[in-house]
Amino acid sequence: MADTIESVLNESRVFQPVPAAQLRFSHWHVPSLDVYKALHAKSLADPDTFWADAANHLAWFKPWSRVLDWNPPDAQWFVGGSLNACYNCVDRHVESGHGEDVGLIWEGEPLSRRTAHPATGSHYAPMHELRWLRYRELQQQTARLGNALKAMGVKKGDVVTIYMPMVPELVIAVLACARIGAAHSVIFGGFAPQAIVERVTDAKSRVIITADGGFRRGEIVELKKNVDEACETLATTPTKVTNVIVLQRTGSRIDWRPGRDVWWHDAVEAASADCPCEPMDSEDMLFLLYTSGSTGKPKGILHTTGGYLTFVNLTARLTFNLIPDAGQVFWCTADVGWVTGHSYVIYGVMSNRVPTLLYEGAPNFPANDRFWDIVARHRVTQLYTAPTAIRTFMKWGDDHPAKHNLSTLRVLGTVGEPINPEAWMWYHTHIGGGRCPVVDTYWQTETGGHVVTPLPGATPTKPGSCTLPMLGIDAAVVNEQGEELPPNQGGLFAIRRPWPGMLRGVFGDRDRFVKTYWSRLKDPATGQPFYFAADGARRDQDGYFWVMGRVDDVINVSGHRLGTMEVESALVSHPGVAEAAVVGMPHDLKGTGICAFVTLKPAWLKANARTPDDALKKELAAHVAKEIGPIARPDSVRFAEGLPKTRSGKIMRRLLRDVAAGVEKITQDTTTLEDFSVVAKLRADEE
Ligand code: WT7
Repeated sequence: MADTIESVLNESRVFQPVPAAQLRFSHWHVPSLDVYKALHAKSLADPDTFWADAANHLAWFKPWSRVLDWNPPDAQWFVGGSLNACYNCVDRHVESGHGEDVGLIWEGEPLSRRTAHPATGSHYAPMHELRWLRYRELQQQTARLGNALKAMGVKKGDVVTIYMPMVPELVIAVLACARIGAAHSVIFGGFAPQAIVERVTDAKSRVIITADGGFRRGEIVELKKNVDEACETLATTPTKVTNVIVLQRTGSRIDWRPGRDVWWHDAVEAASADCPCEPMDSEDMLFLLYTSGSTGKPKGILHTTGGYLTFVNLTARLTFNLIPDAGQVFWCTADVGWVTGHSYVIYGVMSNRVPTLLYEGAPNFPANDRFWDIVARHRVTQLYTAPTAIRTFMKWGDDHPAKHNLSTLRVLGTVGEPINPEAWMWYHTHIGGGRCPVVDTYWQTETGGHVVTPLPGATPTKPGSCTLPMLGIDAAVVNEQGEELPPNQGGLFAIRRPWPGMLRGVFGDRDRFVKTYWSRLKDPATGQPFYFAADGARRDQDGYFWVMGRVDDVINVSGHRLGTMEVESALVSHPGVAEAAVVGMPHDLKGTGICAFVTLKPAWLKANARTPDDALKKELAAHVAKEIGPIARPDSVRFAEGLPKTRSGKIMRRLLRDVAAGVEKITQDTTTLEDFSVVAKLRADEE
């Protein structure tokens, strides 16, 4: 892409918000920058009132007695209140007379073709596989599945693992868990069996909901096979999976384990549709979602019911100007396996009673214009996707969106990584027709929802900046001492007080929770801890945030988080690898690509008559993809005789990052290098 660090730093374009009517909105929830500023100031001056108002957009079975108990780093929100997340996304809409309204719109990936008319040969129209699910049906389906889970012994507080394609039953499975008070742990369908093993073990989950397979780019992804493989490993551990519920999606041949495996259709058919929503304490666990950190295995980020739902309901409504009964169709293209899917495919959007669109497959099946075809046919009004996707669409060319009527679009969102101004401009121009505000939403699995984002009717936008904090969020750029930095100075992104959507823990690892998020930064005045996001950022003269990326050993590949250690562990599990160091490198489409430096075992090379060649590089990359999943496949594997280390034995990652980026002059101070020749050798192995 044409953006350079200099051009991003000098970005000076500003796009002003327009009147609501110009975008066919009845109103903006936050109609001007002044209103935003006043609301933001008020939300920080009197947070209890602000958050109570936000929580009152939900239906509570029992009101809370206190808005917040804050014993750093432990927050309890809406103390004593009780509610149910499925009730808020489904049942209350039925009860308020909207049972026949569509809550979920689904499009499958495959296109079949109608048989031609025998005489004329015409009518060869592509036939889409479509479903429109009304709230009443969602209520019945979540109730039946909820009862089926109960019949398998799933109780309130248990964790149910979900490993499914993007089909309506995935949303139903998530909401059915919430309905009966079981926490869900959704695993992205692109992860490998070993990832299932780790997550199921950590969560002590005994029931897995999956499908025979899913469609992706015209191929079948064999999900059940991966679950079988994971269960085989799990059988040798104390965590035994007692039941696997299998949705029939592709009709492919699968292995079957009688007693353990149950067809979804059999399970729900046998179950009653009478399953009241379990009243949950505001602080009861709603879900676990595993995400990568700098060290060790992925951690189970824990979110609870009342605070999370309040926060995603508020942020979805404000960031996308959601309004029910206004003909809106919201499409977030993220997989439900990531937090974006949890918050902005399901909970935030459905709790606002705006129909949410789910698309099963790839953006380039059967052709590169599939997304624009979907936007046009479903009359999508708000679209939410990732910079990596936008860059790919740019590469495919302007004519694909130009072929379709995108005039229903009103707000465009982006998330997952910093968006380069060139991609922002392309999105604004070629998808938004120059008329739709672009909301660049900055947040994390841990924050539950948007913490820095433009509000479309209020915030002037600047390409590449996620702009200003969400209402109620006290965000800052600070130094290591926790002191706020002056404009345009790079520092650490921090949140200075609790908010309802924040994580409540790392499942089963109190220490990691405290150390990772709450130990690095504190208020220099009071000593109270700040939330440390592990991102670098700066604020400009207008107070706008510009996120610069992770400051820990997490790399953001196509907006997906991977720990460098995870990839390194996968590499050293190959018998030929002695040592590995993984760093991010600039990548045109993915934002960041994976570069692996590997030292091989000479004895293994000799014994197997192998040489360090391209075939071996490919083999190692494939090995990582098999161990973790295709998203972790290194973009570049480089062999080295030794890795550059400091005298204390630490791998010099910053230096490796420079080498990976092809930086000509080594900018690091290399005086602590153990072996300078190592650097020369690494450079000689340029691909
Ligand atoms: C990391 C969190 C939040 C849902 C998707 C990713 C990066 C996310 C932005 C943005 C710059 C962003 C950060 C963050 N990130 N959104 N708009 N601008 N960076 O969730 O997997 O938890 O990753 O993604 O580095 O820490 P996640």
